Amino acid sequence: MPVTTADLAAWKQRRERFVMLTAYDALTARVLDEAGVPLLLVGDSLGNNVLGYDTTIPVTIEESLTFTAAVARGVRNAMVVGDLPFGSYQASAAEAFRNAARLVKVGANAVKLEGGRRSAKAVRKMTEAGIPVMGHLGFTPQSANAFGRRVVRGRGDEGDELLADAMALQEAGCFAVVLEAIPAELGARVTEALDVATIGIGAGPGCDGQVLVITDLLGLTPDPTPRFVKRYADLRSTIAEAATRFAKDVAEGHYPGPEHQYH
Ligand code: KIV
Repeated sequence: MPVTTADLAAWKQRRERFVMLTAYDALTARVLDEAGVPLLLVGDSLGNNVLGYDTTIPVTIEESLTFTAAVARGVRNAMVVGDLPFGSYQASAAEAFRNAARLVKVGANAVKLEGGRRSAKAVRKMTEAGIPVMGHLGFTPQSANAFGRRVVRGRGDEGDELLADAMALQEAGCFAVVLEAIPAELGARVTEALDVATIGIGAGPGCDGQVLVITDLLGLTPDPTPRFVKRYADLRSTIAEAATRFAKDVAEGHYPGPEHQYH
């Protein structure tokens, strides 16, 4: 059965923890969907992980649309969350709505944007029009130029500000809020305070759900990775080994074999 925002509300109420993973292509999305991953985020991290940019900032709405459509084509049950890239929602609530609607038209079931009180008007416009919206607070990569080198957000007085932002997003209609790179105590505090689900990435075990970037989870991303990353596979080695074995087979005349030939 397709996952809906009502499922997240029920999981929150039952204190049932859940996961979200990023996905950027149809084949991987299908594997994750069949594995039962309930939420797939077509994050603007596609900029770093697929397109080779240094940050998420260059990602365009057209790129987000292409990858969101691909993921949506691979999925049957998971909720597909399309990410609004930098510059696609900040100018006005009307523009934010137009771009969110484009993501929904290519298959997103929900959209995500960064920022708290500054994004609340845009969130309200979208939710009133029937588009489920996920917020994103803490270290928000689209603000990397403004943040400088300090990654962990929400320490000291910033914690109260972040909580106020989270409340504003909930008030504006967000069905969930991603919390990135904040102290674990603050992650738990925001999760307690909100009626809607929190999804943590470097925000401690107190969040309702946890999200990881798929290339980090699979061990494709080279070192150094952020502290919160846990690798569940070593695809860098697997891919390198497969490519090396292929080259060796060809060099030694073992590939193609009789079973790989047409007659
Ligand atoms: O773009 C992305 O992958 C994200 C996650 C880090 C939550 O926003």
